[in-house]
Amino acid sequence: MNKIISKEHFSEKVFKLEIEAPLIARSRKAGHFVIVRVGEKGERMPLTIAAADAVRGTITLVVQEVGLSSTRLCELNEGDYITDVVGPLGQATHIENFGTVVCAGGGVGVAPMLPIVQALKAAGNRVIAVLAGRSKELIILEKEMRESADEVIIMTDDGSYGRKGLVTEGVEEVIKREKVDKCFAIGPAIMMKFVCLLTKKYEIPTDVSLNTIMVDGTGMCGACRITIGGKTKFVCVDGPEFDGHQVDFDEMLKRMGAFKSIEREEMHKLEE
Ligand code: FES
Repeated sequence: MNKIISKEHFSEKVFKLEIEAPLIARSRKAGHFVIVRVGEKGERMPLTIAAADAVRGTITLVVQEVGLSSTRLCELNEGDYITDVVGPLGQATHIENFGTVVCAGGGVGVAPMLPIVQALKAAGNRVIAVLAGRSKELIILEKEMRESADEVIIMTDDGSYGRKGLVTEGVEEVIKREKVDKCFAIGPAIMMKFVCLLTKKYEIPTDVSLNTIMVDGTGMCGACRITIGGKTKFVCVDGPEFDGHQVDFDEMLKRMGAFKSIEREEMHKLEE
């Protein structure tokens, strides 16, 4: 059982939870994730660690209410306990001094991007963060990003904050302005797909962090199976980060879509 130390409301459906997990806080690296379960019969939910405080013994997760399990988690309050938090899981982000790096974060994808930006800076990179969301309220962690990156570009679909346009427009603007050596993209699968199509055109190596369905998190169940460069990989043990130019996004989107109707049914049951 892991206690919720603090809860912050980011936007209508996005919450920041600081959770007691001293062992994970001490050993996690950028890119690692945890699997969280609310209730004995709860579904296992992978969530990337946005921050960790080894002294306080806490980790920070940013959660968006998108389905039954994330809604249950977001209903918990400060002082409540989460049934279990397992991790750190997955492979840590490969960090080195690439030169100039563009980090594109869409929606809650900005949260797992923050430790990557900080690690890239610490390794001596020039880091430009492009944060994107549908509207102003959906842009999160801007202050922390400004403290960590060399430059922050904000893009909103409706133009309510920063510049009006898609994340890809912000990324392309940087590519046209200066030499970019590496790109990271984290956000909805469709957003990562389009960032990868763009960076492929300019031949800029791009890493993405995939957010597939997960069950056991140990490579046994196959729920997180994806195809990378024609080979089957498991996001939970081989990832969550992969060479974005090798990811079969269309297959991934199709598999994620297949679970949507089940999710909708479960949500209806909750509302009844
Ligand atoms: Fe089961 Fe990855 S979650 S194999």
